[in-house]
Amino acid sequence: MTLVDALSVIPVGGPSLPQERRLVTAIPGPKSQELGRRKVESVSAGVGVTLPAYIVAAGGGVLVDVDGNFLIDLGSGIAVTGIGNSAPEVVAAVAAQLAQFTHTCFTVTPYDSYIEVAETLNRLTPGDHAKRSALFNSGAEAVENAVKIARHYTGKQAVVAFDHAYHGRTTLTMGLTAKNQPYKNGFGPFAAEIYRAPTSYPYRDAGLDGVGAARRAISQIEKQVGADNLAALIIEPIQGEGGFIVPAPGFLPTLVDWCRTNEVVFIADEVQTGFARTGDLFASNHEGIVPDLMVMAKGIAGGLPLSAVTGRAEIMDAPQVGGIGGTYGGNPLACAAALATMRSYETENLAQRAREIGAILTGRLNAIRAVDKRVGDVRGRGAMIAIELVDPVTGVPDAALTGRVVAAAHVRGVVLLTCGTYGNVIRFLPPLSISDDLLVEGLQVLASVLAAA
Ligand SMILES: Cc1ncc(COP(=O)(O)O)c(C=O)c1O
Repeated sequence: MTLVDALSVIPVGGPSLPQERRLVTAIPGPKSQELGRRKVESVSAGVGVTLPAYIVAAGGGVLVDVDGNFLIDLGSGIAVTGIGNSAPEVVAAVAAQLAQFTHTCFTVTPYDSYIEVAETLNRLTPGDHAKRSALFNSGAEAVENAVKIARHYTGKQAVVAFDHAYHGRTTLTMGLTAKNQPYKNGFGPFAAEIYRAPTSYPYRDAGLDGVGAARRAISQIEKQVGADNLAALIIEPIQGEGGFIVPAPGFLPTLVDWCRTNEVVFIADEVQTGFARTGDLFASNHEGIVPDLMVMAKGIAGGLPLSAVTGRAEIMDAPQVGGIGGTYGGNPLACAAALATMRSYETENLAQRAREIGAILTGRLNAIRAVDKRVGDVRGRGAMIAIELVDPVTGVPDAALTGRVVAAAHVRGVVLLTCGTYGNVIRFLPPLSISDDLLVEGLQVLASVLAAA
């Protein structure tokens, strides 16, 4: 009998779970600690764990661990379960598909749900031009394919990514990702022909507006790479792991214009920002930009592994037959989940719910900032909000304080995540299914642990 079997009553996940924070043991509890010991003996040490409470059920805004603790979820498994864990419409769609067939490989004998996902993405993503989509498994895999497609279409090789960027941990995407520790250290050599440009980081850019920041980046790209060699420029419309950095207005449109003029493919990495998270279906919409290619994952399929590249038909159709694909990409279970999930984003107007959550988050966090100058910045959009913790006098990033605050929130039963190049950003990514009460309680815990830290 495993530890999980031993839990006397395992609650069923989904929104019917009691929506409350309930601590019945220390965090992590004894059963989680025992699983933690087994993890050390069985799982690669390189696979880290943020909060070692082992989960048996989740739904709405709570996660239930193996010891029977109910935790408030302010992370959504890193921006994945926007519509909530085990959302009933996803469970029903996947169960129905499970009974039909689990896999054929779309590139061997295809099925219609893959096409329907592609049609839906072509309709929902910005721009009314002809589009095509291709499906993959992870965000990094989709980023890799976007770069492959852009290179094939342009016949050029160089790719520009930005300071503070995060695009994944595979060999190509590690090269695109900016931060060394823990993502790149010791894993080189990295792929060739990747260059980095300065981003727009309003909190630390002292007076540089969006157009100015874009001109600075463009000037560096023109000097160090040259548009004649540049296949693509890839950027997150709001940088996620880098610290929830919202670029100054005008930055993204100026970059898009330059790409158009110079026959460079503009790739928006909306892996973390996509699917209602920022209060619009895509973060690109806030600035009215129309990317040539868009990369999506995370929130696309309610927790099942699926990712996609959607973009201009002439670019997406450039590669030779067989050049794009993989065994599992667009697996039928993931496609069924994605169709149910994307339907919910539209019919339940979850972008509006993200804006409501954003108003609660920014209201409460700005109130904390007004009295605690260690909160240097409150930023983000919709249900993707962060605080940057700094020394109140020098403005120097305070990663140690950030670590203490998050650890204290964890033992009080609130799942909080950090991010930021300097490790000093706390990010809030609640499921859009969280209740106002639970969200406010989570923020009250944050306020009290911050005050005590
Ligand atoms: C913007 C962005 N791109 C790519 C990735 C990589 O996605 P995955 O972890 O699914 O490979 C992430 C993951 O956090 C991300 O935030």
